[in-house]
Amino acid sequence: MIRCATLSLLLVLAAGSAGAVDGVMVAGEQAPGGNATSWQPRDRRAFLHPSAGMSLERRMDFRLGDAIFRKLWASSPSSTTASDGLGPLYNARSCQSCHIRDGRGRVPAPGETAVSLFLRLSVPPKTAAEQAQLDSGARPVLPEPTYGTQLQNAAVHGLAGEGRMTVTYVEETVALAGGESVTLRRPTYGITDLTYGPLAVDVMISPRLAPAMIGLGLLEAIPESDIVARADPDDADGDGVSGRAQRLGPEGRLGRFGWKAGQADVAGQSADAFAGDIGLSTLLVPRSRGDCTPAQAECMAAPTGDDPVEGVEVPRVLFDYTVFYARHLAVPGRPRAAEPDVLAGRDLFVATGCAACHVPEQVTATDGVDPELAGQRIFPYTDLLLHDMGPDLADGRPEAGADGGEWRTAPLWGIGLTGEVTGRTEFLHDGRARGLLEAILWHGGEAAAARARVVEMSPQERRLLIEFLSSL
Ligand code: HEC
Ligand code: HEC
Repeated sequence: MIRCATLSLLLVLAAGSAGAVDGVMVAGEQAPGGNATSWQPRDRRAFLHPSAGMSLERRMDFRLGDAIFRKLWASSPSSTTASDGLGPLYNARSCQSCHIRDGRGRVPAPGETAVSLFLRLSVPPKTAAEQAQLDSGARPVLPEPTYGTQLQNAAVHGLAGEGRMTVTYVEETVALAGGESVTLRRPTYGITDLTYGPLAVDVMISPRLAPAMIGLGLLEAIPESDIVARADPDDADGDGVSGRAQRLGPEGRLGRFGWKAGQADVAGQSADAFAGDIGLSTLLVPRSRGDCTPAQAECMAAPTGDDPVEGVEVPRVLFDYTVFYARHLAVPGRPRAAEPDVLAGRDLFVATGCAACHVPEQVTATDGVDPELAGQRIFPYTDLLLHDMGPDLADGRPEAGADGGEWRTAPLWGIGLTGEVTGRTEFLHDGRARGLLEAILWHGGEAAAARARVVEMSPQERRLLIEFLSSL
């Protein structure tokens, strides 16, 4: 412990002096999670550590949450009733199967069954009443009548999974200034082996790759007023970047989590994951048969693992530990933050217009926030707003207040560790980008000007920009 504290003190001091000399380094940027930053090694376990500065007792709670996050759920009825309730339909048997070592998921190899990349489903409104449900926030989407809001490709014994997601890629080459080029892969998604009959002809499909789990409690603690203050829905300042707040439910809660900011808080996202991804009910989302629809009679008739006391499969205490854990996965420190190449890359990041959406710095609230996360100066590189990202990234599937071309600015902290943690470098909402430069080159819409500047840069400048992103 003492060595750890000394190390972070040294880093703070080192960064402070770099700031004074250079005038570029924002003191504190080497600790993107503020005092909660983890100073454990930047290796494959880098995303598994708790917020720094936690009491021993709270570290025990974190460990319990970790165990539930890794737990492989079994189908009901089972001899271990505390572990049952899986499905009937599901995508994975544990949280960790998708959020690999608390990092992001993996795109399936050709022929491999998808786990951590799945398809969300819905249909457009057909009646004034359905339109009114969407407009009022009563429902975020209208489920596909048979398959619900997500394609579950697995099911408990005796029941069939819903079908198979397929993805094929077509490669295309983008020429960059200075004689360089990059090959992008453009995905096409399909569904085969449907077991419950045809899909609605107007079904809308959105592929989603599991994102990394770090720093979520800090993102949750950014004051709503700070996020909303950056929204510029009509681009009043004329910089080509607008940004809208996602609004959810009849109360219009601010959305922060998920690729389209479809969830307001970590608890909501976790309950949704238990129900939709694993098929487990919680007090927040008490659907013991997950995403089964009335059109799937066998699924609706399958046994549940409901706890006799609380009437749900994941009792409150287990759920609370999971949410506590999900809030407290620490953001790793950045020992290279003050290196000259990294600082030069950071300048380019700002000059290129990336920081208009990937806002470097935020300050967390002090009221009602866990002590480790309160009042911290953090560097998540996101405004948590929705932006139109152009036709190439559009999924054409609206979700609550987000339209078919909008996505939430992805936080960039920890992104340089993706390869180390997940064993792959696959970026964007569906993992189509096989590296950081590919991810940038898919940007369009409000980010088209920033993308164009990257295409025009010299190879050396592009190298510095990537150097900066890799240091995060
Ligand atoms: C089948 C794969 C899968 C499983 C299993 C899974 N997740 Fe996720 N998770 C995702 C995907 C995909 C997203 C992005 C969702 C979206 O865009 O709507 C996500 C997003 C999240 C987020 C929001 C992260 C962010 O940056 O916005 C949290 C929190 C989360 N999951 C928690 C959990 C918990 C807790 C469990 C276990 C109960 C779990 N997940 C199980 C795939 C999965
Ligand atoms: C108009 C807002 C906007 C601008 C400007 C912008 N981005 Fe993004 N960025 C986004 C959004 C939104 C996403 C998520 C898109 C998706 O997944 O489809 C994203 C995703 C990314 C990702 C992948 C993140 C992940 O977790 O997979 C990287 C890397 C990235 N941006 C870097 C940059 C860089 C570098 C620049 C400047 C050249 C830039 N962005 C400019 C909004 C923006």
